Amino acid sequence: MTSGRRVLVTGASSGIGEAVARLAAARGDRVALLARRADELERVRRSLERRDEHVVLTCDLRDEAAVRAALAEAGRAFGALDLVVHSAGIGYRARLDELETRSIDRVLAINVTAVLCVNREALPWLERGDQPVVVHVGSVIARRGIPGQLVYAASKAALASASEALRLEWAPRGIQVCLVHPGVTRTPFFDVQENPHQRPPPDLAHADTPEQVARVILDVDRRPRPEVWLRSRWRWFAIAGLIAPKATDRWLARKLGPPDRQ
Ligand SMILES: NC(=O)c1ccc[n+]([C@@H]2O[C@H](COP(=O)([O-])OP(=O)(O)OC[C@H]3O[C@@H](n4cnc5c(N)ncnc54)[C@H](OP(=O)(O)O)[C@@H]3O)[C@@H](O)[C@H]2O)c1
Repeated sequence: MTSGRRVLVTGASSGIGEAVARLAAARGDRVALLARRADELERVRRSLERRDEHVVLTCDLRDEAAVRAALAEAGRAFGALDLVVHSAGIGYRARLDELETRSIDRVLAINVTAVLCVNREALPWLERGDQPVVVHVGSVIARRGIPGQLVYAASKAALASASEALRLEWAPRGIQVCLVHPGVTRTPFFDVQENPHQRPPPDLAHADTPEQVARVILDVDRRPRPEVWLRSRWRWFAIAGLIAPKATDRWLARKLGPPDRQ
């Protein structure tokens, strides 16, 4: 793999996406930064090494025409894409009886539909890329849902399933499709998510930093693997949920506490 990769990062205006953009620029990559907030994208771009080499793509991922235009602009700017990191994503903290259909659709549109549309529009540019890699950002709860986050967990489960399918679909094209599962990470994610009943956020005292997640994502770019958990015990949590679902339910019920805390 040559250095100086041509990278597209969705969700680059904040959190994990911002950290990926910063690390990628520091290793010599050119980065196309995609999100809705132009001012935040500009702030990130100005903070990157060789800031004039990077591109800002202001785009709402729910707008298909805007996604098409943004990917065309990234392709024209760099001539190809070697790495696409899908970090844009939103949470939704609500139990089933509290769900709003509009909000369910919003989560699925950003966390699932947009990822597929970005990949479809990125394909011609990835095919021109050097050892192209796509990284989907999943979640520790992609393989095992938890109460109060059923829509978010379902969206990441759908993304995990789509990653498996796309990994095989794109293998003959030489494009590696990888899935990285962060756990609780110290970003604005929990402040901006819909949480109509003000359920308590997770304790961020032992959370990972966005830089830790970004390092794993760029390591996956160097050494592509199908599915990577930030911590190995979360992988065992996913496996336990499959082979011993009832025991995992009991363990989770104890760990999560009473329903009003979940
Ligand atoms: N933080 C955690 O504990 C955690 C744990 C597991 C997985 N994850 C996953 O990690 C990824 C990154 O999350 P984060 O923690 O970095 O959260 P974050 O700081 O809130 O960043 C989310 C990013 O998504 C972008 N975004 C949201 N809606 C968008 C839209 N409609 N169109 C375009 N961009 C949009 C936001 O940019 P704009 O607002 O500017 O559009 C922002 O850049 C997400 O996929 C999340 O599910 C996070």
